[in-house]
Amino acid sequence: MDIFHVLSKKIKGGVLNEDEIRFFVDSVTNGRMEDYQISAMLTAMYIHGLTCEELFSLTERMAYSGDFMPLAEDPMLVDKHSSGGVGDKISFICSPLIASLGMKIAKMSGRGLGHTGGTIDKLEAIPQIDINLSTAAFQHVLDEVGCVISGQTGNFCPADKKMYALRDVTATVDSLPLIASSIMSKKIASGAKNIILDVKCGHGAFMKDLRQAQSLAHLMLDIGSSFQRNMVVLITDMNEPLGCCVGNALEVIEATEVLKGKEIADLKEISVAIAGYAMVLTGLEANPEKAMHKAAEHLKNGKAFSKFRQMITMQKGDPSFLEDYERLPLCRKRVEVTAPVSGYIKDIDSELIGIASMLAGAGREKKEDTLDYGAGILFNKKISDPVKENEVLATLFCEDEKRALEAKSVILDAFQIDRFRPERKTKILKVMSNIELEGDA
Ligand code: URA
Repeated sequence: MDIFHVLSKKIKGGVLNEDEIRFFVDSVTNGRMEDYQISAMLTAMYIHGLTCEELFSLTERMAYSGDFMPLAEDPMLVDKHSSGGVGDKISFICSPLIASLGMKIAKMSGRGLGHTGGTIDKLEAIPQIDINLSTAAFQHVLDEVGCVISGQTGNFCPADKKMYALRDVTATVDSLPLIASSIMSKKIASGAKNIILDVKCGHGAFMKDLRQAQSLAHLMLDIGSSFQRNMVVLITDMNEPLGCCVGNALEVIEATEVLKGKEIADLKEISVAIAGYAMVLTGLEANPEKAMHKAAEHLKNGKAFSKFRQMITMQKGDPSFLEDYERLPLCRKRVEVTAPVSGYIKDIDSELIGIASMLAGAGREKKEDTLDYGAGILFNKKISDPVKENEVLATLFCEDEKRALEAKSVILDAFQIDRFRPERKTKILKVMSNIELEGDA
């Protein structure tokens, strides 16, 4: 088999067989294929799409392209993944929540790909935290606490890493089969039998509308079924940032507050649903409503918070911030963004908020940029809230005056104020699964 012929077959719209897909992925992994050849193949896949067989073979080969997560098979083990959104700190809430309910969740997370910091960037805002756990330490924290969050180690899905980096610069990210195989290869390599995916949908997400998000969910559920994984996919709204904060230290504080029982509606709704469906997938509870009720209890009674403290402490983080947020590196310089007119908040464009938070220093423009963990945005208003002219819409945390001015104007552009009050909607737009869920028609 040679690269030119496999490439030529796909470019002309042919269907690659299992051996050809394997040859392609192996050539990406072992460096035999040049970047321009990989990019040409990704472009051909983007244009012609993939058959189910091509999709399953591609996912499988990518999953096996590196190390597997070295975890013992455990029916109580759950994996959770979000397709990425602005202000998404759900992993910090649902991981200890899941652990407090008697399950286990091991998360190897990445740094930010888009404008805002990723889960690991956010975690790193906690003084002294170790996000580079060795395999043994990772397993030890998981065994002791039931949840662990660490950076991705060495050779995990190297083919996806290489292909994602090239898709990012060749405008081939937003292909449903390429996104599905990229996400699912990492889920398969992580080993958990129970997988919950949070597919974000809206202007701050890869998937701009519900129809597209459902198509992606179907592809990922099909892949999951072909690998005997039990899955639930939640499609959740990303038409405004999640919660009331965007920024690394700010989001750690907000997640801590929810774990202490504070009612922040959207964060609670999604975290409780993820933990509830985790109970259904692991067989701890058959009825999703009952499971979610139990999960909500654990946010109220401090059991989830106690797991969070234990996880931070075992990962060598200084837990004193849990009682004194001043111990986190928050920017001293703050700028208030005020409403130009009175009315109701109609829209907060998450994509623009992501850009504003990046300008403030909370995200990266280029891979090598350093983050200011204390930078970010705190929202005083969310969609449907009433606002008076000159009332504060948001507070920007940013040390650099010039960047603060730029970010402030982007935040103002992100807020749309209307005379009429829009309805406040729930954040979970759809629940899909490849197992039968109690209560489903
Ligand atoms: N997240 C991933 O891991 N891969 C994609 O292709 C898109 C989002």
